[in-house]
Amino acid sequence: MINIRQETTEDTKSVYEVNLHAFGRKAEAELVERLRGTAGFIPELSLVAEEDGKIRGHLLLTGVHIKTKDEEVPVLALASLAVLPKAQKQGIGTLLIGKGKELAKINGYNIIVASGHPEYYSKFGFIFAEEKGLFSKLNSGSEFMAAELSPDALDCVKGEAIYPEVFFAV
Ligand SMILES: CC(C)(COP(=O)(O)OP(=O)(O)OC[C@H]1O[C@@H](n2cnc3c(N)ncnc32)[C@H](O)[C@@H]1OP(=O)(O)O)[C@@H](O)C(=O)NCCC(=O)NCCS
Repeated sequence: MINIRQETTEDTKSVYEVNLHAFGRKAEAELVERLRGTAGFIPELSLVAEEDGKIRGHLLLTGVHIKTKDEEVPVLALASLAVLPKAQKQGIGTLLIGKGKELAKINGYNIIVASGHPEYYSKFGFIFAEEKGLFSKLNSGSEFMAAELSPDALDCVKGEAIYPEVFFAV
């Protein structure tokens, strides 16, 4: 059975390995390592999927903000979602995103932004961010997605999603 739980310091090496093997390169694994040392890191929102005592997947939601014309609105960015290749297509990614969204809401967030795989993220309520008046220097157009965790959360939040510098090294 898959258990989704908060990562602990003992999981750090396994989380690195999951990201390394899922993406087939070091960049995302290193991004996760660097984000742990930033102000936006929220321990409750770095989640692992564990099965038989082994880490099969990882999700990291990290704090960023949207700069509107009047204010800076705290939101979450989906920094990494990774499932070990041999454990993919078994619903682990779905479990991680579901739990992540639930915990995001409990932690007071109404918006998550993400980049990559529109076909995948659209299964989980993510829409094209541009259509809601959001943009990002990290990526543009169809790869930049956003999810509302409460109805119409994006209606009054338009502007640029500001990511910390470490994202731009990926
Ligand atoms: C993307 C990823 C996290 C999906 O994890 P997973 O555990 O295999 O996902 P699930 O089993 O929960 O799949 C849920 C659905 O998405 C589909 N799906 C899986 N990977 C997909 C992809 N890359 N693109 C589109 N759809 C995808 C599945 O077929 C399934 O569809 P269904 O509900 O119609 O059956 C995993 O493939 C992965 O780690 N990929 C490499 C890293 C990556 O690209 N991460 C995401 C970008 S940050």
